[in-house]
Amino acid sequence: MVATNVQGKESAGVTPALWSSRFVFIMAAVGSAVGLGNIWKFPYITGQNGGGAFVLVYLICIAIIGIPIMMSEVMLGRRGGKSPIGTMGAVAAAEGRSRNWAGVGIMATLAAFLILSFYSVIAGWTMPYIVEAAKGGFAGIAAEDSGAMFGGLLASPGQLLLWHSVFMGLTVLVSAGGVKHGLERAVSWLMPALFVLLLILVGYAMTTGHFGEALVFLFRPDFSSLTAESILVALGHAFFTLSLASGAMMAYGAYLKKDVSIARTSFTVAIMDVCVALLAGLAIFPVVFAHGLQPGEGPGLIFVTLPVAFGQMPGGGFFATLFFVLLLFAAWTSSISMLESLVRFLEEKGVGRVKAAVGGGLAAWLVGITTVLSLNLWSDFAPLAMFERFEGKTLFDIYDYLTANIMMPLGALLTAIFVGWVMKPEHSAAELGGQWHALWHAVVRYVTPIGVLVIFYFNLF
Ligand code: PHE
Repeated sequence: MVATNVQGKESAGVTPALWSSRFVFIMAAVGSAVGLGNIWKFPYITGQNGGGAFVLVYLICIAIIGIPIMMSEVMLGRRGGKSPIGTMGAVAAAEGRSRNWAGVGIMATLAAFLILSFYSVIAGWTMPYIVEAAKGGFAGIAAEDSGAMFGGLLASPGQLLLWHSVFMGLTVLVSAGGVKHGLERAVSWLMPALFVLLLILVGYAMTTGHFGEALVFLFRPDFSSLTAESILVALGHAFFTLSLASGAMMAYGAYLKKDVSIARTSFTVAIMDVCVALLAGLAIFPVVFAHGLQPGEGPGLIFVTLPVAFGQMPGGGFFATLFFVLLLFAAWTSSISMLESLVRFLEEKGVGRVKAAVGGGLAAWLVGITTVLSLNLWSDFAPLAMFERFEGKTLFDIYDYLTANIMMPLGALLTAIFVGWVMKPEHSAAELGGQWHALWHAVVRYVTPIGVLVIFYFNLF
């Protein structure tokens, strides 16, 4: 095996086709990163964790932990050229270390799988909203009625199951055809369109008379509302929103050409991702305050808030339809990337792409049914209630907590240790290029592991 590159013919016959340009990789990575995490999750967890101070911690986590880890994962992916499991094993072996490092890839693949199972259920919510918006159902809707409409959806296992199934089907469809085909074309118009629509929503939010209040809420840090747990949530969200520690970026990195700057590319992806999240916050909170809604309302926040905003806007029916369509697409390009690690791994084991995608999707769909039920019939079922931290947490809450707050930080910690301490610096320098390497290396060696450990420590004790 050549010392500078562990990618070789042994990729079990699945020679990956490379992205056709740096632009396409950025679009695919942004497609993976930008999704429900930015538009659905970021506003509601910001609301639950008190606003400004939480946003500040989240931004710091993105800058000093998220971006270096993204660089690490893309670098490892390109070097290994396989599924995340195969990549971690192969790169470790090439460093003369144990192939057990593949465990990091296994945990990432598992996290992505669990996330996909509930992500599909939430993404499914966009579809009845598209139908309702197209029928003009939001016109002049009051906040209570919007809340009741959302409550009605959650109360119906049949509806949730239907849309969950449709969404998983869509995910499998693209995945089975190979990510490059569908994805390359879709994301290059989708992301700009979503951006423009968010700007329009922010424009509307400015007319509500509560824009200033939202700015204060989002950007004036009130550290008294910051707990050890909200710091962990901010850290976890930095990984979730950038699709890290889930194999997604590592799998996509495997398709990246050698001459592309990983550092510049990672910055670009992270900045776009953060911009979308902040725009979503600026669009949503003014409406929340203008209508006396609760910022801490929870997972329903945007589904209750935005219909009210659209309902009062000129051309609201049209914009609402477009918005939920774009949100669906954004979720779709993310879910495809969640399935990629598993599908690539199965391919390496000799399973055909179509079979792998259908099998993986079906399994995630089955697990997703428990999320559907935890929103209604099982909403009182808190299987881990014996632990204080999990009191009142449904299965869906547990999947979310386990992936974002435990598996992802742990996976990132191990990745940082691997690239910072196990891998020879010459090898990472060969991928990352001179300019950024020294800084990156110092950060992944010290800052990232210590940061994650300190945050874990304060959450355990
Ligand atoms: N980053 C995606 C989002 O914000 C979620 C995701 C997590 C995608 C993990 C891939 C892997 O919606």
